[in-house]
Amino acid sequence: MSTQAAKPVRRITVPQIAARKGGEPIVSLTSYHAHTAAIVDRYADFILVGDSLGMVMHGMDSTVGVPLDLMIMHGRAVVRGTQRALVVVDMPFGSYEESPAMAFRNAAKVMKETQCGAVKLEGGRRMADTIRFLTERGIPVMAHIGLTPQTSHVMGGFKTQGRDEESWPSHIADARAVAEAGAFALVVEGVVEPLAREITKAVSIPTIGIGASAECDGQILVLEDMLGLNPRPPKFVKVYGALGDMIETAVRSYAEEVKSRTFPSEEQVYR
Ligand code: KIV
Repeated sequence: MSTQAAKPVRRITVPQIAARKGGEPIVSLTSYHAHTAAIVDRYADFILVGDSLGMVMHGMDSTVGVPLDLMIMHGRAVVRGTQRALVVVDMPFGSYEESPAMAFRNAAKVMKETQCGAVKLEGGRRMADTIRFLTERGIPVMAHIGLTPQTSHVMGGFKTQGRDEESWPSHIADARAVAEAGAFALVVEGVVEPLAREITKAVSIPTIGIGASAECDGQILVLEDMLGLNPRPPKFVKVYGALGDMIETAVRSYAEEVKSRTFPSEEQVYR
């Protein structure tokens, strides 16, 4: 019998993701839970603990109310459940916008307490100084432009960006600013396909699309949306599994068995 221990799996690193620009498409999903993250870990290059967890896990109306401690709690679960994918944790609204120093304090807390590999924050040119401040001090940053849900109140809701060509230079300037500031990758959310193409051409870091066409260097979806667990998923989401229906069927069968006293005995279950 061999006594050799299995080789530890090495996590995908920030430079490895950055090096995928224009190469093999980057696969990513959100995850908020240790056991589902363990499954996602086998297929995703990076896993985002997104602040969408406020909406899909905690029933909030928007991501604005998500506290930092909630991100840290879910971030720890996902790091615990995974061994291969890079884990990126979202900085929630109000935890980084005020000043670079505040962003550093909170991002360092997230990294220390979750052991994640990077943080993500929303904003283009307006966040460039903060991104530079963090990356120069050892915190890898993924940026997020286009439709930025944390500022949906200012944007007038969750609206596709770039329908008017006059707005393109502003989005492209945002992309360039965060890339020049040191972001290692860039989520591009809810933009029209030709704008996604232009943004992807304009920067040397990988773009990760969500509702932004296949013209990006990678894709991300919210896991609960693509698994059919969100009764109202965004229009652009392809639902790959019908877990909502499966849970309903399982819960209904259980309830019926309990009520009809056909619930299995211990010997049947623990054979
Ligand atoms: O919070 C989130 O899930 C995100 C994705 C939409 C990229 O930021």
